[in-house]
Amino acid sequence: MEITAIKGDILNTTAELVVVGLYQEEDWSNDFVLMLNDIVRGKLKKKVEATDFKAMPGESLTFSAGSEASCDYVLVVGLGPEGALKTSEIRQVAGSVFAAAKRLSVKTVAMELLGEDDSAFENKANGRDARKAERGIEEAETVVDGVTVARDLVNTPAQDMNPERLAEAAEEIARLSDGRIRTRVYDRDWCTSKGMGAYLSVTQGSDSEPKFIHLTYKPSGKPKKVVALVGKGVTFDSGGLSLKPGKSMETMKCDMAGAAAVLGTFATLARIQPRVEVHGIIAATENMPSGKAIRPGDIVRAMNGKTIEILNTDAEGRLTLADALGYAQKQKPDYVVDLATLTGACVVALGEEISALMANDEVLAQDLLTAASNAGEELWQMPLYPAYNKLIESSVADLRNIATSSYGGSLTAGLFLQNFIEEGQVWAHMDIAGPAFAERPIGTYLGTGGTGYGVRTLTTWLSRL
Ligand code: BES
Ligand code: MN
Ligand code: ZN
Repeated sequence: MEITAIKGDILNTTAELVVVGLYQEEDWSNDFVLMLNDIVRGKLKKKVEATDFKAMPGESLTFSAGSEASCDYVLVVGLGPEGALKTSEIRQVAGSVFAAAKRLSVKTVAMELLGEDDSAFENKANGRDARKAERGIEEAETVVDGVTVARDLVNTPAQDMNPERLAEAAEEIARLSDGRIRTRVYDRDWCTSKGMGAYLSVTQGSDSEPKFIHLTYKPSGKPKKVVALVGKGVTFDSGGLSLKPGKSMETMKCDMAGAAAVLGTFATLARIQPRVEVHGIIAATENMPSGKAIRPGDIVRAMNGKTIEILNTDAEGRLTLADALGYAQKQKPDYVVDLATLTGACVVALGEEISALMANDEVLAQDLLTAASNAGEELWQMPLYPAYNKLIESSVADLRNIATSSYGGSLTAGLFLQNFIEEGQVWAHMDIAGPAFAERPIGTYLGTGGTGYGVRTLTTWLSRL
C-alpha cells in the first residue's frame, strides 16, 4: 500500500473512492460536504438521513457516486462528536476505509487528513505543509512495520517460534539496522554463571534450549537517556507441572508478546533514531512439564540473591522476569520498562482491550500513560500497594511465587517483580495479558491473533524522551 499527501481539491482527484468524514452534529453547512453532496446529486444527505447512520467512529456507509462525479464511489465515515476524535478512533476510521476499499475492489482512495494536529493542512496552499504530512506518514509506516513484526512473531505457532527462533528474529533485526543495533544471545551455561536461578528453573522442563537475548541500540550522538526494555519471552506456556486446563492453553503461543513488542520496537529504532540508548532484554524459554521440570515446593535463587519458593509452576513469567530485570539493571539504565502477558487476573480486571501499568515513579507512569494515549493504546494505572507484600511472604524463602490470596493477582505479581528492582531504580511494569492477543476480531481492523500491542506506546515514548 502506498500513502501520499497532496494538497489540492479532493473533489478533483482521480481516486476511485472518495472518503468524507461526518461528525455527529453534522448540520450540512460545511463547504466540502455541500459541494460533494451537489456533485452526487444530493445522494449524500439522502443516504445519511435514510439510514440510521450515527457517525460513530468507524461506522461507515457506501454508495456509488453517479456520472457527474470523478470518482466511482463515496464512502461516508463517522467521526464521533466534533473535536473529540482520539488516535485509536482515527485508526478505527482508517480500518473501515481500508475494509471498504477491499470490498469495492478499488485501488485508489482519496481522503482528507484527520487528526488533532491539523496544522499540516490548515493552509493547503503551503507546500511545506504537505511535506510535514509526508513526514508523518513515513513515521507511521515505520511504526506499523514494527507492529507487524510483533504480530507475526506472536502469530507464529510455538512449534516454530521457540527460544532459538526468537533469538534469530532478534539477530535479523540487528542485521537490518545499518549497524545501529547489536544483538547478543547467551546460552544456559552463561545464565548459570550469572546466577539466574529463577529464569533457569522455568527452562528446565523443556527440550528447547533457553536463549537469553540482549539487543542494544546506540544513537549517533551522546544519548540523552539510557532505557532498558524487558519483554516476557515464554514461547509457550503449558503451565509446567501445574498444568493449565486445555482451553487456557489454546492461546499460550502468545506468552512471548512482551518480547515481541520489544523486538517490534527495535525494528523501528534504526529508522526513527531516537536520541536514547536502548537495551532490549528477553529471557526466552518454554514452560513445559517433564521429568526434569521444576516442582511445586522447590526453592530457587535469583540473580539478585533473593530466594523464591515455587508453589505454582504456572506463575513462571515473574520468575523469568526476576532475572531479566536483574540483568537489565546492570546496564545502568535511567528507566526500566517491562512488558509481559503476566496474569489472567489482569484480563479479569481490565478486559481484553486494556493493559495495566504499575510503576515506582509517578513521572515515568504519567509519561507512559501519555505516550499510550497519544499512540492510541489503552493503558490504565494500577497500584503497587505495599500492604499486599504480606501475601507473597514465604516461611522458607524470601518470597513465594504465588500469593496466599487469589484476589488481586495482577497487583501481587507486580509486587513480586518489584522485589527484583534495586533501590533508586526507576521502573514501570506493563501487564499486557489482555490486549496482546485478540481472541476474536475487534473493531474495524483487528483480526484474531497477535495485535502488536506496546510497539506504538514504546516508540512514542522513546521518541519524546
Ligand atoms: N501467561 C499466563 C498469563 C496469561 C493468562 C496471559 C491469560 C494471557 C492470557 C501466566 O504465566 C500465568 O499462567 N499466570 C497465572 C498466575 C497464577 C498461577 C498465579 C494465571 O494468571 O493464572
Ligand atoms: Mn503461566
Ligand atoms: Zn505465562
